[in-house]
Amino acid sequence: LKLVVISDPHLVPAGERLYELDPSQRLGACIADINEHHNDAELCVINGDLTYRGDIASYEEVKKCLDTLKIPYRLLMGNHDERSAFLKVFPDTPRDAQGFVQSTFESETARLVFLDTLASGYHYGELCEQRLAWLKEALADNPKKPTIVFMHHPPLTVGLKVMDMAFLKDAEKLAQVLSAYQNVHYLFCGHLHRPICGTWQGIPFCILRSTNHQVAFDLITDNMLIGCHEPPQYAVVFIETADIIIHFHDFLDPSEPFQLGGKNLSIQKNA
Ligand SMILES: [Fe+2]
Repeated sequence: LKLVVISDPHLVPAGERLYELDPSQRLGACIADINEHHNDAELCVINGDLTYRGDIASYEEVKKCLDTLKIPYRLLMGNHDERSAFLKVFPDTPRDAQGFVQSTFESETARLVFLDTLASGYHYGELCEQRLAWLKEALADNPKKPTIVFMHHPPLTVGLKVMDMAFLKDAEKLAQVLSAYQNVHYLFCGHLHRPICGTWQGIPFCILRSTNHQVAFDLITDNMLIGCHEPPQYAVVFIETADIIIHFHDFLDPSEPFQLGGKNLSIQKNA
């Protein structure tokens, strides 16, 4: 199973800029790169914060960009999103019975689960009893199937002091649900606008840079959020029965590839 993962495009209405950048143009460049190099992926997942202000004009920009993507996609809600405005522009988005933007995607090798951690009006994330009950049901259906979970808010603090104030507040309850099933092999999150990997409750996780602006690598400042313009990235993910491989790609890096090691490179030394 081959996937592409994008995070936090933060689109604004056409013609506006955000932190001196054009978010639509950056997402457009990302999609052009995916179309050229990874149009054999089965699915593209965008890990939330599709827009910056959650307004219809911004979702229309998201739609315009995604209309050019050559592979199917699944979209998550982030703290900057607004469910009702999103659904007006993307009415066919799969939802659970309560209307949360939660769904699953079944492939032969793995089941993907997309969670909705948006707490309207707040930057922190939540998974209420209704959303957790849906998750339990999703995991209980074929409980041996390797499962990958996608959600905007990371369930742990990482040392970025201001961002850590807005993590998933129901992380303990989520941990209880996941530990009862033991079938979640990997967790993808957004929100932090930084490349961060680790494990949480024994489950490996990966967080990506945004396609627009980044959060600075600053583990000290605790009274304001510091941004930076490190390059944007997306990830290409291969999921085999037992292995998961994640490649990060800085799609705006201007450097040209070149041949390493000379013409007669061999895997045999001194050949
Ligand atoms: Fe974000």
